[in-house]
Amino acid sequence: MDFRLPRRTFLGLVPAVLAAPSLLGCATRPKSVTLPTTANARAAAPRIALVGCGGRGADNLTDLLNAGADVVAVCDVDARAIDAALARPLETRRFTDFREVFARRHELALDGVLVATPDHTHAFATALALRAGIPVYCEKPLTHTMEESKRILALSHAARVPTQMGTQIHATENYRRVVELIRAGAIGRITSCDCWVNKGWCCGPTGPVTEPPASLNYELWLGPAQQTPYVEALHPANWRKYWDFGTGTLGDMGCHMMDLPVWALGLTRASLGKVEIFAECDRVDRVACPEWTEASWAIPQADTNGVSIDPLVLRWFDNGRMSPTAQELGGKDRQDYHGRFNMVFQGTKGFLFANYGEHLILPRALAAETLVPADRIPQSPGHHREWIDAIRAWRAGDQGAADAPLCAFARSTILNEIVLAGTVAARARRPLQYDFETQSFADGNPISQWQPAPRSGWSLSDADLDAVLG
Ligand SMILES: NC(=O)c1ccc[n+]([C@@H]2O[C@H](COP(=O)([O-])OP(=O)(O)OC[C@H]3O[C@@H](n4cnc5c(N)ncnc54)[C@H](O)[C@@H]3O)[C@@H](O)[C@H]2O)c1
Repeated sequence: MDFRLPRRTFLGLVPAVLAAPSLLGCATRPKSVTLPTTANARAAAPRIALVGCGGRGADNLTDLLNAGADVVAVCDVDARAIDAALARPLETRRFTDFREVFARRHELALDGVLVATPDHTHAFATALALRAGIPVYCEKPLTHTMEESKRILALSHAARVPTQMGTQIHATENYRRVVELIRAGAIGRITSCDCWVNKGWCCGPTGPVTEPPASLNYELWLGPAQQTPYVEALHPANWRKYWDFGTGTLGDMGCHMMDLPVWALGLTRASLGKVEIFAECDRVDRVACPEWTEASWAIPQADTNGVSIDPLVLRWFDNGRMSPTAQELGGKDRQDYHGRFNMVFQGTKGFLFANYGEHLILPRALAAETLVPADRIPQSPGHHREWIDAIRAWRAGDQGAADAPLCAFARSTILNEIVLAGTVAARARRPLQYDFETQSFADGNPISQWQPAPRSGWSLSDADLDAVLG
């Protein structure tokens, strides 16, 4: 434990440097865009293509421009999303099919691609970038399936380009303070961490089948997914409720919340090893994601430099399912900790609650004694900026810059697989063992029969990728 810093801070409640963001919003989204003013500045700026520019893509566009990128192409399968993106002053080219963006990558002189499409198209677009040796930022969850995660990690090892998963809360000050406190032993050795979200993406209805919106190229929207009739209100956003396109509430929000314990406990593939996963949900349905999910990950002998004890248990609760730890503490203190926070670490000395913007140590007597740890994690220049700065350095010949973004795929695929393995266990309805080193389930993926093969030309094989890249 290292409490060398003389400054004494009372941590009953520590407000973050940044204002607390909403759960759905972007914690780091600046309010306005600063465009490069001179031709030189623009010429030097990394040239980025944005794939998927509605919804979260619109936030990413603002963040990219504020991070100093030159967004030279925007691509969306819905013309309305492009029209909205181009409502701002932006010199850029518009595309409907991201395969064409990649085919024209030399003409566009691309330095990077940001992928903000629905989950089921993340891997193919990301794999094209990696295979072409182009830096890539991809929204969370990085992939739709475990097998895609394995392939993306292999491609990123081969490509050695700057990568970043879109877990932008990782760049905030509050997460840094929590990581410092956990690592400094502020609540003792960690036995468990519960994460939860008080919302749910329930449940994809199977009808009515209707015509897709006139502005949408539904064939391209489907991409690798099997031909499926368009269901009313599927696009935008509600695809999250369907297993063929989304990953339910755990897949949607787990990457933000579970990022904190994975970071604080320094979980690596080696320290995770073989993890026992148990999960349940209200329904096992081929089509629709569940109303609620509970999941747990038991990590035996996690070698976390003495920060945790064996076994370390992570747990997930969503849409009204409650962490018993948060419930018990809340009952005792007459506080709604469950409504206010999204994670609670349990340690041998006490508890630490957190959300995106604040944290709280209990018991309060322990909080009053807790000192600010000496080892501070450097402030992030911003999640998008980490990636853009890494591209600049990498372009200038610094090969090490590939791993500089804090959520580079070498690290973020671990978080991605923890979250997705929970969704697999919930659908399998039986305990599973996942080996993080070999990236495989002990008895094979139990839901592989529910994962249709990609449509012709949309697999992540070298041949399919090269057919696009030419
Ligand atoms: N990091 C965060 O805080 C955060 C927040 C929201 C969403 N997300 C993630 O961002 C992704 C998009 O979510 P959303 O809420 O914006 O969804 P959305 O449906 O609102 O928007 C997706 C956009 O991508 C477009 N699109 C779909 N397929 C495409 C394709 N093949 N090529 C080009 N464009 C395509 C759609 O037309 C739409 O404009 C998801 O993976 C989601 O998990 C992240």
